[in-house]
Amino acid sequence: MRKYFVGGNWKSNNTMADTHTLIGKTINALNFGPEKTEVAIFPSTIQLTEVQKQLTNKNVYVGCQNISKYGFGAYTGETSVLHLKDLGINWTLVGHSERRSLFAENNAIVAEKTKFALDNKVNVVLCIGETLQERESDQTLNVIQQQLGHVKDVLAAKDSWSNIVIAYEPVWAIGTGKVATPQQAQDVHAFIRKWMAEHVAKEVAEAVRIIYGGSVTEKNCQELITQTDIDGFLVGGASLKPGFTDIVNAVNQAQ
Ligand code: PGA
Repeated sequence: MRKYFVGGNWKSNNTMADTHTLIGKTINALNFGPEKTEVAIFPSTIQLTEVQKQLTNKNVYVGCQNISKYGFGAYTGETSVLHLKDLGINWTLVGHSERRSLFAENNAIVAEKTKFALDNKVNVVLCIGETLQERESDQTLNVIQQQLGHVKDVLAAKDSWSNIVIAYEPVWAIGTGKVATPQQAQDVHAFIRKWMAEHVAKEVAEAVRIIYGGSVTEKNCQELITQTDIDGFLVGGASLKPGFTDIVNAVNQAQ
């Protein structure tokens, strides 16, 4: 049985006061079975240590939204996975579509960052997904294969995948209110699992968590989570609001 996974991607939002409220009122009060569901929040990097201080809910992990592909050194403005390790933070997002489109991160960079994080024992939520134009020109599965293929090629051991959660996030669904239908999401998730079975290993494909992201809310999550290959969510906008609790509950109660 795969554990469910729910991530809250706060993006570049929240004053410190907003963060105190969100942690105090919502995150610390989350009540779920950690043997069934994992929950991680991804605040702004500059708030990570404060979030660690405020967080009393020991079942919730804290993660970073992005890391550099380097260790310590002369890389002005960058956060290394070594900084995360030093703080005891063991999750990071890699390859979010906003990183890819706004900050020119290509598949090779995403693969390098993923490997570097795993080499340093930091778990990765690997974000992949197609743009609207790619979907409309029937390129979705090609894009997904390429995104996964680059990561697969840099990981020597198939065991590495046990520290990766794959987040399928169609770019056209992110922040648009246009959520994928349960069938659209399930189709791509099933494809990812099949690809993993064929290119990595059957047991890895069975075990890897594949979560959906893109306009997930407390209203649409119930039906999405019933899909066989959807193992949870990466939530953006709705993770900044009290309704995040309903999303975690819906996942934790799913059969
Ligand atoms: P959204 O963002 O839930 O606001 O669409 C999801 C994400 O970017 O991870």
